[in-house]
Amino acid sequence: MRQIPTVKSTSGLLLFIRRLNAILRPINFMEERKRKYGDFYQITFKNSPSTIMVSNPQAIEDIFTASPDKVEVGRGNKGLSFLVGDNSLLLLDGKAHKNRRRLLMPSFHGESLQECSHKIVTITKKVCDRWQINKPFKVRPYMQEITLRVILNVVFGIDSGAKYERLRELLTKLLETFNSPLSSSLIFFPVLQKDWGKFSPWGRFLLLKEEIRQLIYEEIEERRSFLASGTSEHRDIFSLLLLTKDENGEGMTDEELHDELLTLLFAGHETTASALAWLFYWIHYLPEVEDKLRFELDSLGENPDYKEINNLAYLDAVISETLRIYPIVSGAFGRRIIKPMSIMGYNFEPKIDFFISIYSLHHREDLYPNSKQFKPERFLQKTYSPYEYIPFGGGNRRCLGSALALLEMKLVIATVLSRFQLELVSKRPMLPVRRGLTIAPPASFKIKVKSKIG
Ligand code: HEM
Repeated sequence: MRQIPTVKSTSGLLLFIRRLNAILRPINFMEERKRKYGDFYQITFKNSPSTIMVSNPQAIEDIFTASPDKVEVGRGNKGLSFLVGDNSLLLLDGKAHKNRRRLLMPSFHGESLQECSHKIVTITKKVCDRWQINKPFKVRPYMQEITLRVILNVVFGIDSGAKYERLRELLTKLLETFNSPLSSSLIFFPVLQKDWGKFSPWGRFLLLKEEIRQLIYEEIEERRSFLASGTSEHRDIFSLLLLTKDENGEGMTDEELHDELLTLLFAGHETTASALAWLFYWIHYLPEVEDKLRFELDSLGENPDYKEINNLAYLDAVISETLRIYPIVSGAFGRRIIKPMSIMGYNFEPKIDFFISIYSLHHREDLYPNSKQFKPERFLQKTYSPYEYIPFGGGNRRCLGSALALLEMKLVIATVLSRFQLELVSKRPMLPVRRGLTIAPPASFKIKVKSKIG
């Protein structure tokens, strides 16, 4: 058998330093690794099977197209249960995972999605109308507010009221726990997860989580009684989950409902907020990109149809390039093989974990020449396969909300550009930083309004 390049795992202080490096300097870490070991290498451990790191399209195709009974993901995501509980879609595998996806998928596609368009535009206008001329502001909180309001609307079907506002506030505060590269270490070093009361980061996190849990449980109880009395007319995901029954006629328990709702709320807004912040950066960092985009948007005339915006080729390419150059989620979920299988011509036995580096794949020079340059045109000149371009992962775990995220990005950008001329506060190049499990623009990123349009 051919030899796979091998890195021996370290332990003790060296392992700690290596991990810290991966957390605090994620991009440099991934680049150094790829330079040193290539696009398919293994890390061996003393007492457990090896881990394979992948950024090769052929290997990615083998993994994404493998039959789900050969590959497990949920168990590897156990580390996320501190945020989304044990019953989340992220932690499911096999039939349970397939059924849950089948239930949720229609709400994030087709007609249901189109129904969100008007809401996205209305929310964007409301949030951005607070911007004032020549007053620099941080982009992130505004983008986060838009995406959180949108996902709350999609999941709960409500967008006002004291309980809704409290939930929004709590979710924002909870995610602030991991808003800096250093505080993100809390996720990766369980030893730091110590409850030393409300003034300690973990203690505060637990208190916020508990308050969110109580609010969601109250809402579940209320909705159950509405449904029982036959008065509910909700058409949101919450109601869908409340009504669903498994093959034995059993509905979801409160705990299952709570975990799934949290999963959708978390997965559904942080990532999109980061992507939007990057979009604002690139569009205003490169004047030629802004010019071309405005030209394309102007071609639709006043009050364009949402569907027309969704179909704009250059806007689509700018978004694709934004998600390529700094993918928000730098690696797909780990895939553990549970039956013997062949990948890239190598035969593997069960219990080996595969980690796909989205960032390293997106910076392959053979696929993306001058990969460090932001060039939307690459997506107009070439169609990339689902194993060459994977900002939303792939296979049976591909991001459930990708269509919603793309629609949101397009409508927010189109709405904002039609109302404001913006400029960056600093013209210096901006590099991504760790933000929880994702990589994102620095929290300090600011823009300002040069003038209002119309
Ligand atoms: C720009 C925004 C987003 C990015 C870059 C992103 C990226 C990803 C990635 C890389 C995965 C892992 C896929 C894999 O390992 O193959 C994923 C999974 C997932 N995403 Fe997203 N996502 C975004 C927005 C959203 C939104 C708006 C939702 C809405 C609810 C969402 C819900 C999910 C869910 C539920 C999963 C788990 C799917 C499963 O396990 O079957 N994401 N996402």
